Amino acid sequence: SGKLENITKVKNVDRIVLGKYIMETWYYSPLPPEYHNCSTLWVCEYTLNFLRSEAALKRYQQRHSIRMPPGSEIYRKDNISVFEIDGAVQKFYCQNLSYLSKFFLDHKTLYYDVDPFWFYVMCEVDEYGCHIVGYFSKEKESEDNYNVACILTFPAYQRKGYGKFLISFSYELSKIEQKVGSPEKPLSDLGLLSYRSYWSQVLVDLLKNEKQPISIQEISERTMMKMEDIISTLQVLGLIQYYEGQHVLDLRRIDNIKFGSKGLLCDPSCIKWRPKV
Ligand code: ACO
Repeated sequence: SGKLENITKVKNVDRIVLGKYIMETWYYSPLPPEYHNCSTLWVCEYTLNFLRSEAALKRYQQRHSIRMPPGSEIYRKDNISVFEIDGAVQKFYCQNLSYLSKFFLDHKTLYYDVDPFWFYVMCEVDEYGCHIVGYFSKEKESEDNYNVACILTFPAYQRKGYGKFLISFSYELSKIEQKVGSPEKPLSDLGLLSYRSYWSQVLVDLLKNEKQPISIQEISERTMMKMEDIISTLQVLGLIQYYEGQHVLDLRRIDNIKFGSKGLLCDPSCIKWRPKV
């Protein structure tokens, strides 16, 4: 039976259709059994309802006029919106989002008990509606001070800066909460690349503009990045020395560090959000 289990852990759905995109799946996802042997999974991009055929999706969307995610819109700028969704209230939506993200996440234990999480869903908005491009989840109470549990950009939207937008959004929420945060470990390879890129950009920007000496502690208070993440990033950038038992900033090489495009960071003045008490 162990063997059988392994066989069924092989990728079960070959591709998903989400809005105007077809995406090949990367990994196994423990979908409800009724979807196990359909090679293409049709997903309503607004409600995340799963369907087994294009005709069924069309019928479904004719009956349902919703063209946006549930929850409240807490960010809007130009054609980008973010919705905050309570896992305990929108269980079906958040469970289906977790099943979908498992198609692209190998290493993570995903929690299908979605009650203890908030979900922050990023959308591109046009005249037809709000199209989900990615999201991150966040524990309502994190003992380890994680500010992101799981983060995903759907493959059709990857490498356009949306991952870094979501990361910057998560740190802006941490700034509003006045809580230092860090993503849940372990990070995937793509997760680490994206975090490394965001952290580097924020630190180099801050240090280039800072005229006074500054401590790691102060950097952490301003960016809400955890000290360990700051130190490891500065090490990779070659901007820190370990000297007589202490980490000492060494900015001689900072002007040599160049970034490509800055990408799309969120505009904190467009966030309408208060921490829950
Ligand atoms: N190869 C090389 N570099 C890459 C790649 C890639 N395939 N993908 C992203 N990057 C780099 C980009 O070049 C960019 O760096 P730069 O701005 O310095 O050039 C940086 O990573 C971020 O790129 P974005 O376009 O902002 O990120 P994207 O929208 O592609 O999303 C994400 C990144 C969310 C990690 C996405 O790859 C994804 O969803 N992967 C599958 C799920 C996953 O692994 N999630 C993270 C798990 S860890 C956790 O959840 C806490």
